[in-house]
Amino acid sequence: MEQLVITGQKKLFGEVPISGAKNAVVAIIPAAIMANGISIIENLPCIEDVTCLVNTIKALGAECQFLDDNKLKIDSTNIKSYIATDDSVKKIRASYYLMGALLGRFKRAEVAMPGGCNFGSRPIDLHLKGFEAMGAQVKQEYGIVKLYAEKLRGAHIYLDQASVGATINIMLAAVYAEGSTIIENAAKEPHIVDTANFLNMLGAKVKGAGTDVIKIKGVKELRGAEYMIIPDQIEAGTYMIAAAAAGGDVTVKNIIPKHMDSLSAKLDEIGCIIEEGDDFIRVISTGSFRSANVKTMAYPGFPTDLQPQMTALLCIADGTSTLTENVWENRFQYVNELRRLGCSLTVEGRAAIIKGVSQLSGAEVNATDLRAGAALIVAGLCAKGVTRIGNVKYIDRGYEKIEYKLKAIGADIKRVIKE
Ligand code: UD1
Repeated sequence: MEQLVITGQKKLFGEVPISGAKNAVVAIIPAAIMANGISIIENLPCIEDVTCLVNTIKALGAECQFLDDNKLKIDSTNIKSYIATDDSVKKIRASYYLMGALLGRFKRAEVAMPGGCNFGSRPIDLHLKGFEAMGAQVKQEYGIVKLYAEKLRGAHIYLDQASVGATINIMLAAVYAEGSTIIENAAKEPHIVDTANFLNMLGAKVKGAGTDVIKIKGVKELRGAEYMIIPDQIEAGTYMIAAAAAGGDVTVKNIIPKHMDSLSAKLDEIGCIIEEGDDFIRVISTGSFRSANVKTMAYPGFPTDLQPQMTALLCIADGTSTLTENVWENRFQYVNELRRLGCSLTVEGRAAIIKGVSQLSGAEVNATDLRAGAALIVAGLCAKGVTRIGNVKYIDRGYEKIEYKLKAIGADIKRVIKE
C-alpha cells in the first residue's frame, strides 16, 4: 500500500503550476464521443479519473492516443457501442456523463451506476427526469441505467436543485435533440461553462452557460475540435490553503483568479495577504490566523470541494470557527482522521465546530475520499513531526503529481510503499 509521508512545519515558497480541471475534463471526454471525428484535448490533467474514462471510451470503440502526458487525441468516428458497464465506469462519479452523451448520439445508453467519493446519498434523479422530459424511457436494473428514446425532443426543464451533474448531462443529450431545450435553475460552476464552450467548438448551439438559464438548440452533427481545458479551481484552492496553513509565500499560476474569489475572500478575512494578477494568485502567510465561519454553496459560493481542506486550515486558527456544509449531507467523515493529528472539532448536523489549537502533531492517518485526503495533506504540512497518509489512491484520482508540486515549493513529502 502506498503512503504519502510528510515531515511538517516547513514553510512553503515559490510557484505552483495548476493543471487542467478534473471536473471539466470528466465531462469533456464524454462530450468528445458525441462527435463524428477527431478531437484533441489539451491541458489534460494526468489523474486517475482520466485514465478510467479513457479506458471506458476505448471499450466503446473510441481510438485514444496520448500525444504527451497532457494532450489526448480522441477519434470517435468508429464508436458503435452504447453499453458502458465495465469496472472503470463503476470507479468514478462522472461516468454518469456517458448517459447523456450516448443517449444523445445513439438514442440509447446502458451505463453502470457511477461510483466516486462517498459523502452520503448521491442521487441522479434530476438527470433521469431531464432525459425523460426529452422523451427517453428510463429503466434501472441490476445496477445499470438503461435509456432509450425513439426520438429525443427539446424540452423545458426546471431543476429542483442546481445540480452540476444534471445540468451537464441534460446539456449533452439536448445537443442532439430535435428543437430547443431550456434548463432553468441550472448550476453555474466554471466546468459547466467549459463543457458548453467545448460543445460549441464541436458545432453545438449552447447559450447561457454560467447563468441559471441555459438554452440548447439541437443540431444534427458534431465534428471534432481542438480544445484547452480550464485550470482546476479546486487544485488551485488546495495549494492556496496549503500555503496559508504552512506559512510562506506561494504563487499559484496558470489559473483564473475570478474562480477563486470566495476562497481569496476567506483567506484575506483570516489574515493572509492575497495578491492577484491576470493568471495567478500569490498567498503570503505567517502561518497564524483568525477564526472564521464558512458555508459551502453552489458557485459562486464557497465550493464544497474545498470544505475539508478549509476545515483543516481552521483547526490551527485562533478561536472557534464553524464550517457549514450545505451541498452534501455527509461530508465530514474525515474528522476522526484530523483528530488523530491533534485537531479539536465536533460535528453537529451539517456543521463542524472547530476549536483552533496552537500546534498539530504528526500521526498515521487514512484518506477517506479525494478532498479529505487533501485536507490531511494540509494538516500534515503544518503538524510537528511525521504524518503518514494511507489510501493515496483517492488523492491520485484528482491531483496530478501532488508530491512533486509540493516538494518544489519546499515541502518535505515523499511517496513510499508501506510493507
Ligand atoms: C459535482 C462534482 C463534485 C462536487 C459537486 C458539487 C463532478 C464530477 N463532481 O458533483 O466534485 O462536490 O458537483 O459542487 O463534477 N442532487 C439531487 N439529485 C440529483 C443530482 C444532485 O438531489 O439528481 C443533489 C445532491 O444530493 C447534492 C446536490 O444536488 O446535494 C449537488 O449535487 P451535484 O451538483 O449534482 O453534484 P455532482 O454533479 O454529483
